[in-house]
Amino acid sequence: LDKSLFVPNGLDLTPNARTVLERRYLRKDTEGRLLERPLQMFERVARHIADAERNYDPRANVQATAETFLKLMTDLVFLPNSPTLMNAGRRLGQLAACFVLPVEDSMDAIFETLKNAAIIHKSGGGTGFSFSRLRPKNAMVGTTGGVASGPVSFMKIFNTATEQVKQGGTRRGANMAVLRVDHPDILEFIFCKQNNGDLNNFNISVGVTDAFMAAAARGEMYDLIDPATGTRTATLNATEVYNALVRQAWKNGDPGILFLDRINRDNPTPALGEVESTNPCGEQPLLPMEACNLGSINLARCVTVTAEKATVDYDKLGRIVHDAVHFLDNTIDMSRYPLAEIDAMVKGNRKVGLGVMGFADLLFKLGIPYNSEAALETAAAVMSFIQTEAVAASRALASQRGPFANHHRSIYADMEQPAQRNATLTTIAPTGTLSIIANCSSGIEPLFALSFVRNVMDDDRLLEVNPVFEAVARQRGFYSRELMETIARRGSIQHVEGIPDDVKQVFVTAHDISPEWHVRMQAAFQKFTDNAVSKTVNLPREATVEEVRSIYDLAYQLGCKGVTIYRDGSKEHQVLSTGATA
Ligand code: CDP
Repeated sequence: LDKSLFVPNGLDLTPNARTVLERRYLRKDTEGRLLERPLQMFERVARHIADAERNYDPRANVQATAETFLKLMTDLVFLPNSPTLMNAGRRLGQLAACFVLPVEDSMDAIFETLKNAAIIHKSGGGTGFSFSRLRPKNAMVGTTGGVASGPVSFMKIFNTATEQVKQGGTRRGANMAVLRVDHPDILEFIFCKQNNGDLNNFNISVGVTDAFMAAAARGEMYDLIDPATGTRTATLNATEVYNALVRQAWKNGDPGILFLDRINRDNPTPALGEVESTNPCGEQPLLPMEACNLGSINLARCVTVTAEKATVDYDKLGRIVHDAVHFLDNTIDMSRYPLAEIDAMVKGNRKVGLGVMGFADLLFKLGIPYNSEAALETAAAVMSFIQTEAVAASRALASQRGPFANHHRSIYADMEQPAQRNATLTTIAPTGTLSIIANCSSGIEPLFALSFVRNVMDDDRLLEVNPVFEAVARQRGFYSRELMETIARRGSIQHVEGIPDDVKQVFVTAHDISPEWHVRMQAAFQKFTDNAVSKTVNLPREATVEEVRSIYDLAYQLGCKGVTIYRDGSKEHQVLSTGATA
């Protein structure tokens, strides 16, 4: 493998992408001097991931596979999640972005999990936890005769530990805390982030059941159950609890909500346990001790443009999906997981999460407004294609490498179709950093602004314009620096003079799009995604609590697995807005 790998088109990285890579991804010596360039980083990753071929065939052409993987990344058509870029082929060797750890109801178990979370954060992975098994605040502690402190106080310890670990790590650690709606401490949980800065390394989500949603719709009472004893501690009015969580989300975005029954209906291995939590940004439901590698396809680069029209290049997309599934399956073998139990779970189910980024850019290129039926149809067409091809790729791998080890205990066991290599295939990640590296819009989100001013060192102001918008502006003859500055100040082009109406219709940004369209888009992708979809439903500052409730209701009706909202300005004074920024 001494031969240097073949890179056909060079590497087309923006200055921002280079900066991000230099800060956190490229190898450095102890003095902080760079030991590799971006191309060498991609080579390091490609070689390491291709090495898994040897596990299956001693005579495999590892070089050819490495070249395929390298081209995926250097063409910026597919990128694996950040820990893979950072750690592949290096000492740490931990490649997954998403983990869920169990929180059992004993001191030993809680602090064991805290230690494991710290190790995961050091490697750039995020951790999710369900605190639902902990006995409630003020419950008796058998061994000491004292009283328990409850889930929220343990979350504070986890939060502080995360704060300390992030000082020395690759990126700030992110956590998800889930509490079931029938836990006795649910009200304390709903309000636990109401003060700005509290639990700032956590996203929180209330885990609700179908029974709870039905009770909330009818104004019925429901029981709170002590998980340690199984006894009822109180009854609450479901509508009042639902309203409390909606109002709190309206105030500052937290808590989100997870529809647990729906998540578990899609659990491919119910015999191994119930899904109680997701990773920090909500897109990856996992069993306790499970981890998952994500990877994202850049849809902005899967378009054929002719003089007459632009169309999705499905041939290209199909090839990328097959190579990407191969890449992610190899990643499972090459990752070093921090615990033997995690290693066993991951290799038992071999879940991967292939998703997309650059969806808003794709719509711009196709000339389709994000808030339109045509956009929902595009989402469904693209994602159903990816899902189908990913399953086909996984079956092809299974025919050479065998199905995942727990296949005979999975929902696929009795199916007629050929076995899959992976228990799940698709997930839509936020792609917070990947989209900067690939210079595309993030995940399936609409753009926040078509042009904006970035303040850089020495008070230099750099004007950045979305490349697709800039091309159209130049082509249609309305491009000017002044106009772009005006757009940067306004955010949206809807009320800017001098821009043709048809351009205004297509180039909509997050706040031009009504919350309903945000949810409908999330649901359109969810329909063809094994795991879940990362999406923030943006609301204007003046949105009401009732509007937030109708968004939560709509997400439930449309089959989403959870929902997160953000009302403009509601977190303005918070030092660190979410646990999920890279
Ligand atoms: O773009 P990138 O691969 O860096 O990450 P992302 O798609 O924005 O986030 C994917 C997942 O990575 C999140 O849901 C978390 O599980 C994890 N993550 C994290 O642990 N810490 C961060 N600062 C960012 C992401």
